[in-house]
Amino acid sequence: MNTQILKNTIAELFANGKGILAMDESSKTCDKRFEASGISRTEEMRRQYRQLLVTTSGLNESIGGAILFDETIRQKTDTGELMAEVLMKAGILPGIKVDKGTVPLAGFPNELITEGLDGLRERLSEYKTLGARFAKWRAVIKIGDGIPTVECINANVYLLTRYAALCQEAHIVPIIEPEVLMEGDHSLQECYNITEQVLKSLFYQLYQFKINLEGIILKPNMIVAGNTCEIQNSNDEVAEATFNCLRSCVPAALPAIAFLSGGQSPEYASANLRALNKNFKGHLPWIVTFSFARAIQQPALDVWKGEPSNIEQAQNLLYHYAKMAAEERN
Ligand code: 13P
Repeated sequence: MNTQILKNTIAELFANGKGILAMDESSKTCDKRFEASGISRTEEMRRQYRQLLVTTSGLNESIGGAILFDETIRQKTDTGELMAEVLMKAGILPGIKVDKGTVPLAGFPNELITEGLDGLRERLSEYKTLGARFAKWRAVIKIGDGIPTVECINANVYLLTRYAALCQEAHIVPIIEPEVLMEGDHSLQECYNITEQVLKSLFYQLYQFKINLEGIILKPNMIVAGNTCEIQNSNDEVAEATFNCLRSCVPAALPAIAFLSGGQSPEYASANLRALNKNFKGHLPWIVTFSFARAIQQPALDVWKGEPSNIEQAQNLLYHYAKMAAEERN
């Protein structure tokens, strides 16, 4: 494995304070969001929406990479260019979501496991020919009554590790995303405890399977209270808990941490990121940035509504929220 290739990709992705736009919602998830906005759930509408995103002018000022879904990396814009080519021309690296989503974990009620390892070596080599320079795999950990179990955590972390090994073999940077969900009434401290358990398990597995830490990106949740918890925390509190958790779990050899937004509002997610970078400036051994989906896209989607006449306004909002996330880093 040539680690330098992976390092170069990571350096390109995050140059000048940039982050990642996660636009890799599966067709099912995209349709769910379309339904909520009254947009018809067809492949053509998904193509038009993704076209709106990748053709937003100035997006490359704050976005260094965009994660695509399998359907999207094969789709073309109205001018006949592949979406990935449009991104590359704008100086934005294309990436690809390679997991195949979650299914119930047999024997463990209410817990999930992510699928997608079968045939992954071959899929990665095809994605590379389509322009992908990095990949993403998302594991989902729920907090609830008696969950997560240690078996669920370890099984998910094992799959993340096997995925990362295959990516590194193909010289594709793996984004490793173990998401502890925000849904629930748990406190910030509970989120801290579970995230810590997940990350400790993850980095032990990565070590066992000889993953080169210098060639991966971690995409974790921030340490926040559950969305129905009565006590919601200030940006400084979230930043402090997140910093403490990461510092105790994530080796300094890792080049970059790019947070998911997880259902936080764009303003809250970006302000948390800013507080983390500002309050702990000089103490962060990694690049600390974003890989948001909803916290960048949602306002644009709400305005677009599938109408050509709303495209410009939607693109202005996308540009604005991407810029806000990136500016909070500097
Ligand atoms: P959110 O920022 O909406 O959490 O999405 C990030 C992501 O890529 C989820 O896999």
